[in-house]
Amino acid sequence: MKDKIRLDKLLANSGLGSRKEIKKTVREGKVAVNGTIVTDSSVHVHPGEDMITFDGVVVNYREFIYLMLNKPGGFVSATVDHRENTVIELVPERFRHFELFPVGRLDKDTEGLLLLTNDGKLAHELLAPRKHVPKTYFVKIGGRITEEHKKRFAEGIVLDDGYMTMPSRLSLLKSGDVSEAEVVIHEGKYHQVKRMFGALGLPVVYLKRTAMGSLTLDESLAPGEIRELSAEELALLKT
Ligand code: URA
Repeated sequence: MKDKIRLDKLLANSGLGSRKEIKKTVREGKVAVNGTIVTDSSVHVHPGEDMITFDGVVVNYREFIYLMLNKPGGFVSATVDHRENTVIELVPERFRHFELFPVGRLDKDTEGLLLLTNDGKLAHELLAPRKHVPKTYFVKIGGRITEEHKKRFAEGIVLDDGYMTMPSRLSLLKSGDVSEAEVVIHEGKYHQVKRMFGALGLPVVYLKRTAMGSLTLDESLAPGEIRELSAEELALLKT
């Protein structure tokens, strides 16, 4: 059975207003727990067990929320930053009361799939190094990609700090002075993709994450747009 939580927290997490507004509504006698009016918002209730009504409407409580963001360039993957715009600023008002954080980091100039959630356990599972969750990136490279480069990715590449990466996959999509490719890595070192190409003398001119584990970026989301994961996407992510 889930732990009890404060009534005002449950109502705030359900998007029914700020804690202050909720306290007022409760005081006005508009909230009932199992049919009994409650005027003290500090009482503890069982989410999912107790039936709570707010202004006569049954509250559909959700503890966790999972959002897919198509991250645009120019935003840092942090909850707070005193100088830069953060991805949290892109979250629509209706999700703001959840204490959301990004699952992992994309560089400020990197675009694409970023999961935002308040589910620390799932985030931990996805980021745990031992899990080797694959991350797929679309890259544009200032130069030509050769078979030798692909081989180096498959073998593992020694980065500027001496770290040897795990084997990864580099697939060429378009060859030219600016080449396009897909890269799949199984770890998440700082600036990893840029540093892997950098070690081969190839500058990354554009980077976008297209998948994380079994979760694929919804290409119908414009940069900066967010939507909740579907039940299917969430189930896939959890397996
Ligand atoms: N690798 C990078 O270099 N940057 C990112 O944002 C993600 C992976």
